[in-house]
Amino acid sequence: MPAGSAALPRLRILATGGTIAGAQVDGTRGYKAAAFSTDALLAAVPQVSALAHLEVEAVAAIGSQDMDDATWLRLAARAQAALDDPTLAGLVITHGTDTMEETAFFLNLVLRSDKPVVLVGAMRPATAISADGPMNLYNAVAVAACPEMRRRGVLVVANDEIHFAREVAKTNTTQVGTFRATHRGLAGLVNSGRFHLYAPPTRRHTAQSVFSVAGLTALPRVDIVYAHAGMDRALIDAAVRAGARGLVLAGVGDGNLGAAALHAAADAARQGLAVVRSSRTGGGVVERNIEIDDDALGFIAADELNPQKARVLLQLGLTQTADRAALQEFFFAY
Ligand code: SIN
Repeated sequence: MPAGSAALPRLRILATGGTIAGAQVDGTRGYKAAAFSTDALLAAVPQVSALAHLEVEAVAAIGSQDMDDATWLRLAARAQAALDDPTLAGLVITHGTDTMEETAFFLNLVLRSDKPVVLVGAMRPATAISADGPMNLYNAVAVAACPEMRRRGVLVVANDEIHFAREVAKTNTTQVGTFRATHRGLAGLVNSGRFHLYAPPTRRHTAQSVFSVAGLTALPRVDIVYAHAGMDRALIDAAVRAGARGLVLAGVGDGNLGAAALHAAADAARQGLAVVRSSRTGGGVVERNIEIDDDALGFIAADELNPQKARVLLQLGLTQTADRAALQEFFFAY
């Protein structure tokens, strides 16, 4: 520990796996996610010991394509337990980038704390030429250790950018600049641990959220159906048969569907499913009652949320109510 380290904040790292802990097989192409321990990752960035006292807890060792409701519930419980420790200043969560935006938004809605919670991953495995994980991890620790980051909700740090959980989306399959803030902009920039902070988030999160998963062992099933030209009703009917309580439509354009699929979605709503219209476009707001009569058909508009985030909010909303108007209000508030 460096001189004066007794004054450093105490942080916990919850490890879940991902490419940041990945190892290549042949040195250039394929790799195995979650191959390295977090201690091995930290050994590549000894500079973090000047930022914080770090302790590590493994919650999972998976590629984030395997992230599921059970792991979310376990992660939320471990994160909340850490945040409830008054001597802990913040949390860093290592995570694969594929579903990081969903996990970040989930935690943003269910954790009760003002402390910084930072998800971090990497696009290149730890053994790659110019791996991005070490700098991302250094920046994530710097962000989590910073008292100014309190009350900003759950954050994602990658590629020298700080993103709000609600705004961040993975937009590229392989490039290190994959994360974009699709609507309301970045939380800030972080250059080798130095910050440039932008405006705080505007929607409700963490300490002001009404959602809690304490004591839950499962979340309601919500399926996403992706719309396309020539779509029929088969996949929407399949979601109903599979027992979904909610359905998110990744609609074309402004959350639209062709006639056959629209009839199926209206039938699903009549049978009691909460049906949310989102958009597959990757940007923009889906408003109520523009081309589709949401009032008449009993649909909910996703507002700014992309389909995968709309699914998270609908799952949590359904833990509280099945009332369409109340669910719609959640989409305007969070
Ligand atoms: C994953 O999400 O676990 C794989 C991809 C990545 O971490 O970049």
